[in-house]
Amino acid sequence: MPRKNAKRSTPTGKRTTVAKTARTTVSARRKFVVKSSGIHGRGVYAARPIRKGERIIEYKGELVSWREADRRPPSDPKDPNHTFLFALSDGKRVIDAAVGGNSARWINHSCAPNCETEESEDGRVYIEAIRTIGRGEELFYDYGLVLDERITPTVKKQYECRCGARRCRGTMLALRKR
Ligand SMILES: C[S@@+](CC[C@H](N)C(=O)[O-])C[C@H]1O[C@@H](n2cnc3c(N)ncnc32)[C@H](O)[C@@H]1O
Ligand SMILES: [Zn+2]
Repeated sequence: MPRKNAKRSTPTGKRTTVAKTARTTVSARRKFVVKSSGIHGRGVYAARPIRKGERIIEYKGELVSWREADRRPPSDPKDPNHTFLFALSDGKRVIDAAVGGNSARWINHSCAPNCETEESEDGRVYIEAIRTIGRGEELFYDYGLVLDERITPTVKKQYECRCGARRCRGTMLALRKR
């Protein structure tokens, strides 16, 4: 890719020429698109190559208590186990992406994900690539859903995973290691 030059002001006010690398040109491009997924409903796809460690998007929505989240109507009344909730590590609060959510709410789960979530100290959650992701690949992170109830086969079935990974654990729930 040809290198372009851009003019930028230095702190002293002098004009200087800064080489714009191929990398900065790439990262300025749109990272993802939302479209129908073969796994479930809508999904999010890389619109350009994404580097390992690159932050892709913040998981946005209304920050509420678990109590308030439980009180709210299901995000999809036809599928009571459908969720737009993201639980924070304090065990008390969740981000409800059904209210004020962005495209991150369409990212599906996989048992062999190419992304992970990172929670900042101020309770914000970001989705980041854990490996190089090619253009057109669907983005996934492992939901690792945690329930208060005992995980019976019936409950596992309710949260059945259809990611299709070779080592799919069959459920979007986090299973305890034996
Ligand atoms: C945050 S939404 C993701 C967007 C979803 N595809 C949609 O169109 O609403 C989470 C829901 O998507 C579905 N889902 C995501 N990943 C899945 C998977 N690997 N297998 C089965 N269902 C999945 C489940 O219903 C889950 O509660
Ligand atoms: Zn799976």
